[in-house]
Amino acid sequence: MSDATLKSFPEGFLWGAASAANQCEGAWDVDGKSASIADCLTIGGIDHPRLITLDIDTDQYTYPSHRAVDFFHRYKEDIALMAEMGFKAFRMSINCTRILPTEHGEPNEAGLAYYEDVFRELRAHGIEPIVTLCHNDMPLEFTREFDCWADRRAIDYFVRFCEVCFERYRGLVSYWLMFNELNLLTQVSATWLHACYCNEGTTSFDDQVDDPRKRFQSLHHLFVASGLAVMRGRKIDPSYRFGTMASISLNYPHTCNPDDVFKAQQATQFDSFFVPDVQVFGAYPFFAKRYFERNGIELAIEDGDLEAIRDGHVDFLSFSYYGTGCVSTTETGERMYGNSFESVRNPYLETTEWGWGIDAVGLRTTLNALYDRYHVPLLIVENGIGVSEELVPDGKGSYTVNDDYRIDFLRKHIEQMHLAVDDGIDLIGYTAWTAMDLVSLGTGEFKKRYGFIFIDCDDQGEGSLDRYRKKSFWWYKRVIETNGEDLEGPIDA
Ligand code: BG6
Repeated sequence: MSDATLKSFPEGFLWGAASAANQCEGAWDVDGKSASIADCLTIGGIDHPRLITLDIDTDQYTYPSHRAVDFFHRYKEDIALMAEMGFKAFRMSINCTRILPTEHGEPNEAGLAYYEDVFRELRAHGIEPIVTLCHNDMPLEFTREFDCWADRRAIDYFVRFCEVCFERYRGLVSYWLMFNELNLLTQVSATWLHACYCNEGTTSFDDQVDDPRKRFQSLHHLFVASGLAVMRGRKIDPSYRFGTMASISLNYPHTCNPDDVFKAQQATQFDSFFVPDVQVFGAYPFFAKRYFERNGIELAIEDGDLEAIRDGHVDFLSFSYYGTGCVSTTETGERMYGNSFESVRNPYLETTEWGWGIDAVGLRTTLNALYDRYHVPLLIVENGIGVSEELVPDGKGSYTVNDDYRIDFLRKHIEQMHLAVDDGIDLIGYTAWTAMDLVSLGTGEFKKRYGFIFIDCDDQGEGSLDRYRKKSFWWYKRVIETNGEDLEGPIDA
């Protein structure tokens, strides 16, 4: 039981889980959908990167997004399971290649109708959709033809796509997240997923050839697109709420050596705060401008761009939290990994099977740091642990996974969230990563499982795709039922 003297989670707290279209839907080429940048990513693994194959070659490679876990056809079954857990919210993304498959073509009615059905199904179960407009799936055609976000044509496309969604889903959606983890584009490794182009020589995720000017120009275009879309959205429905979405990973100094402390501050500022600063405050922060000057990066800024960034600032900050980093000016020893970053190993943290540091207390620190800086409502839209798991008989004629480690991981993080709420932070929801198992973004594996619901599918994409409730399913149901007060159980069906 949690501490009764603590301030409770607010009424209407958005408990649920999250997903991304290209990692769960499959059906990559049906009903008029075009190929997205996720559809040419092969399966990888902890020791071999995902390849980016601009020509999709299904004879030679396995592309996990093509079938994924078939949420496209099974969404009713999955939503029923979420409802059984008592979800108040489900974070999902719209794959723009279903809705506007090409740059100039008309909106695709089949794609529009599909998401309308999903939203209606969620609402019928009392589940609030929290919708990411772009979770790494711009049309592949744009990459081939004009380097996608490096070109302003991507802005026009994205704003039009948003308008189509804002018009069509009025009354069905209230919370919109603009781009998934846009802040990662301050790093080279995010070029493909976020700027959606490959410089010559890039073949895989883990080894991308960089052109910093082009990368930051793309980021500028993404900011402008976000600002313009938010402004249009507010006109279409003033009750819409818009959020930025960042992958937040605070950097700790490895020691109290002032050099380490300063380095840690700089790293956090650049990697975690740069993008939310622009999207929440509506202007480039001083340190970004200075970075551009120092590195000879001159952005092409057109008339109206800075106004779009200013007037299209967002209402709330959503973020993923998987852990923290650790920075040193001297230490060269063991390394630790996290969501898209690598750092010095923090000796106080345990790590997951994929080497990611586990830091529950860091979530409270993060919430305080973010609220202190931004003073806007916060929404945690990803947090979880990836584990390779096997089904075992549940003793009742079906199967389950005894994922006590997941319960332990989530419990410790929710405890820290509760403490942060008691600290006075305006936290409006928590969507764990993920409801049902899906394709890992970083490695493309199925075996890196995060869900409350197990899906029978292996790394080659083989399996019945049947769904099974893990032990954490029952545990999370109880957490939601008690609005986060009971983190212990019962955990039996
Ligand atoms: C986040 C992404 O970066 O981390 C998700 O928004 C992703 O799409 C999640 O799945 C976990 O990362 P991974 O590589 O384990 O799938």
